[in-house]
Amino acid sequence: MLLLNKIDSIQKDFKAELSSAIKDSSKLNDLYNKYLGRKGLVSELFSELSKVDTTDKPAIGEKINLLRNNLQKSFDKTGSKKHKSKINSKIDLTLPGNYFPEGNIHPITKVINDISDIFKSIGFSIFSGDEVEDDFYNFEALNMPKHHPARDMQDTYYLNNDKLLRTHTSASQVHFMEENNPPIKIISPGRVYRNEDISVRSYCLFHQIEGLYVDKKVSFSDLKGVMEFFSKKYFGQDVKVRFRPSYFPFTEPSAEMDIYWGLNSESDYRITKGTGWLEILGCGMVDPEVFKSVKYDSSFTGYAFGIGIERIAMLKYGITDIRLLYEGDIRFLRQF
Ligand code: PHE
Repeated sequence: MLLLNKIDSIQKDFKAELSSAIKDSSKLNDLYNKYLGRKGLVSELFSELSKVDTTDKPAIGEKINLLRNNLQKSFDKTGSKKHKSKINSKIDLTLPGNYFPEGNIHPITKVINDISDIFKSIGFSIFSGDEVEDDFYNFEALNMPKHHPARDMQDTYYLNNDKLLRTHTSASQVHFMEENNPPIKIISPGRVYRNEDISVRSYCLFHQIEGLYVDKKVSFSDLKGVMEFFSKKYFGQDVKVRFRPSYFPFTEPSAEMDIYWGLNSESDYRITKGTGWLEILGCGMVDPEVFKSVKYDSSFTGYAFGIGIERIAMLKYGITDIRLLYEGDIRFLRQF
């Protein structure tokens, strides 16, 4: 039992050496390395253990562990921070870990991330605007002067005479154009607010992704192509889309795009108002008046679009009541 003798003698030698090293920190350091260092005597003992007969291994292994703990305790007593035990004895590493319930990504966030990825893949970058806006950015610069009837299309929460909760992400377009020159290729996702009657298909707040592309010779067919590309990427090649002429003061011409939802059940009927189609975005060619308000040269053209995120989440995941998205009911949210 050569190894056992060695363990005993290491223990003895250590005691003797410790008492002479205790007052001298450099000696203490040498002592630590000699016994407990990576290539020290204790780790040597552990490597010798591998050569021991398997029947003796557990007992000898335990002795070496004991020795190591004793030596470590002696270092702990010296008060030297450097040589303090790194293992907190209050933690029992053999106990099973604690279970932390894991959350998951909210469907709205998921839709925003997935759609952003599609636009990023064709060169759009992300710009974030603010939810509290000046009247100027939300309306005035978008060709909706005070008392313009189109302001009624978006029932607004005013904070005071001038500040409001933005009714659409189009407000971010103006900020971006004020600070950057064309060519511009951005999307701007975010939350918007409208004082609307709450129902299965609308809520007082919702999310949009704004898109803006400005350059020379941008055409309506570019816009249509990109909207079709995005719809196919997101909903699959077989998706059915249609464009309807529409009106927005800040685009001319303007359109809305619908996706075919279906008309199989009573709730399909309510969601699509009996048409089978659900509107998911507004778009159009940026009105020259908007370019004027950000002092852009009239040689530029561009398109803009605003995608309704909740509608898309409903289509993608078959959610038949928009309100479920805001209730925070864990049973609903866990399904995504
Ligand atoms: N801002 C419009 C809305 O919220 C959507 C839109 C964006 C339309 C950009 C045209 C261009 O209804």
